[in-house]
Amino acid sequence: SKGTYEFYMLKEIDEQPGVMRHISQDYLDENGKPVVEQDIVDAVADSDRIYILAAGTSYHAGLVGKNLFEKFSDIPVEVGLASEFGYHFPKLSKKPFFIFLSQSGETADSRVVLKQVNERHLPSLTITNVQGSTLSREATYTMLLKAGPEIAVASTKAYTAQIAVQAVLAKAVGEKKNVADAKEFDLKHQLALVAEGMQQLVDGKEKVDELAKKYLAKTRNAFYIGRGVDYAVALEGALKLKEVSYIETEGFAAAELKHGTIALIEKGTPVITLINDPATADLTRGNIREVESRGASVITMVAKQFANENDDIVLPEVDYYLSPLVTIVPAQLLAYYASKNKGLDVDKPRNLAKSVTVE
Ligand code: M6R
Repeated sequence: SKGTYEFYMLKEIDEQPGVMRHISQDYLDENGKPVVEQDIVDAVADSDRIYILAAGTSYHAGLVGKNLFEKFSDIPVEVGLASEFGYHFPKLSKKPFFIFLSQSGETADSRVVLKQVNERHLPSLTITNVQGSTLSREATYTMLLKAGPEIAVASTKAYTAQIAVQAVLAKAVGEKKNVADAKEFDLKHQLALVAEGMQQLVDGKEKVDELAKKYLAKTRNAFYIGRGVDYAVALEGALKLKEVSYIETEGFAAAELKHGTIALIEKGTPVITLINDPATADLTRGNIREVESRGASVITMVAKQFANENDDIVLPEVDYYLSPLVTIVPAQLLAYYASKNKGLDVDKPRNLAKSVTVE
C-alpha cells in the first residue's frame, strides 16, 4: 500500500536505499564475495561477448551495465533495444551470452529476441523483479532484483536494482576470471556508501521540489546532458521527466549539443547537467558555459569532488562506476515534483501501461 504517500512513485524512490542494502545482504557474503549461482558465473565467464537486451528504463540500466561488465569482467558488451534487435540481429560473436533486463519479465519486445536466442540454442539470463515471469521461465538462468513490487508506471527502484545486480554479476565473473579490477573492487563497501548517499538525497527532496517549481513549472521542453556514465543517466533522467510531466525532454552526450541541438536553446530552456566523470568534468563545465551564453537555465547535479558553491545538487562521493545509482535519485525526484506540481496523476501517466506486452 501507499501508506502515507500520495503516490507510489515517491514511495518507490524513497525505498531505494533499502533495496541497495537488501541486494548487498543477499548477493554478497560477509567478506564481500558475490553469492551468485555458479552455473551463471561460469556461463558468462565462458562467453566472448555479452549482449544486453531491454526496453525503456531497463535499456538505460543496460547502458550502465555495459560499463560494469567491461570494467570488472573484461568482456565486451553490446547493448540493444529489444524491439530493434529482434528483427535485425547483428553479426554475433562466436560465444555470445544474452542478458535480458526486465522489471516485469513480460515485455513483448524482449520476448521476441529471447525466442530467437532459444531457437539458436544460445545461453541467456533474465534479470527481473518478478519470479516466474515469462522472460524468467524462458531464459536459461534467472537473477531476481529483490526490489519489491513496483507499482508506479515510471520505473525507479527497478532501475537502481538492475544496476546493482549487474555490478554483483560483473564482479563475480571478473573474480572467476582473475580480473584485478574486480578483485580489488570493494562492492560491499561501495553499496553501503551508495545507500547512505541515496538516503541523503531523498532526505533533501525539498530542494529538488524548489528546482522543479523554479525551472520546470512552465517550460515546454528541457535537456539532460552528461558524459561517460552520466550520458546513460541523462537518457534515463530525460525519460523519467517526459513520461510523468509531459515536458518534452531529451538526453544528450554533453558535447553533442553543439553539433545541432544547441539551436533549440532559448532564454530559460532548462539544461540539467550531470557531472561525475573525472575524465571529462572540466569539458562538461565548458558545455554549461556554451548553453548559458545562449540563455539556458542550467541545473547542475555534480559529484562532491567536482562541486562548487553554485551547484544545485551535490552528489555524494561514490565510485564513478556506481555513480548512476546516486545521480538518478535527484533526477527521479525532479520528474516526480514536475508532474505532481502540475496536478498530474504521477503514477499513471497518459497513454502508458506498466508492462508493455505488445510489440
Ligand atoms: O518491465 P520492463 O523493465 O521490461 O519494462 C520496460 C519498459 O517498458 C519500462 O522501463 C518503461 O520504459 C517505463 N515506463 C519507464 O519508466
